[in-house]
Amino acid sequence: MPTLFDRLGGEEVISKIIRDFYAIMLEDSRINYIFKSVDIEALQRKQAWFFTSLTLEKNKGTHDYMRRAHKNLVQQHGLNSIHFDAAIECLKKAMQANKIDPQSISDTLAHAQALENFVLDR
Ligand code: HEM
Repeated sequence: MPTLFDRLGGEEVISKIIRDFYAIMLEDSRINYIFKSVDIEALQRKQAWFFTSLTLEKNKGTHDYMRRAHKNLVQQHGLNSIHFDAAIECLKKAMQANKIDPQSISDTLAHAQALENFVLDR
């Protein structure tokens, strides 16, 4: 059984998806202001690494990390499920733009969706 990481096309394709994902998010006025004073290149590198662990299912124990990474945004911007859904929508568009098959898209989105309560510090 190939991993989701392999089904997406490995590291190179994942990096490309992450680049496109950020480009789409930065155009989206529902969420782009949240990234205003953030080092986007550094964030993309962390995000590519995180996605790799997520799709290899090696991200166990990272729930606290998700909480810590976004706690400030919850306090400062009231980060909520509307922002979260908008980001998921951007990720879906980035995957579609990279011609990822529908099953792998929905599997990836399900992994991301499962982190909602941690990202939103609930
Ligand atoms: C499943 C959903 C998400 C995942 C997997 C995720 C992943 C990450 C990761 C790995 C980091 C880097 C943490 C570090 O510095 O080590 C991060 C930071 C960040 N995320 Fe997310 N994130 C998610 C949802 C969101 C959403 C919905 C938003 C806003 C719309 C967001 C905005 C940010 C911002 C602005 C930072 C930088 C925070 C800072 O540098 O202080 N994230 N995220």
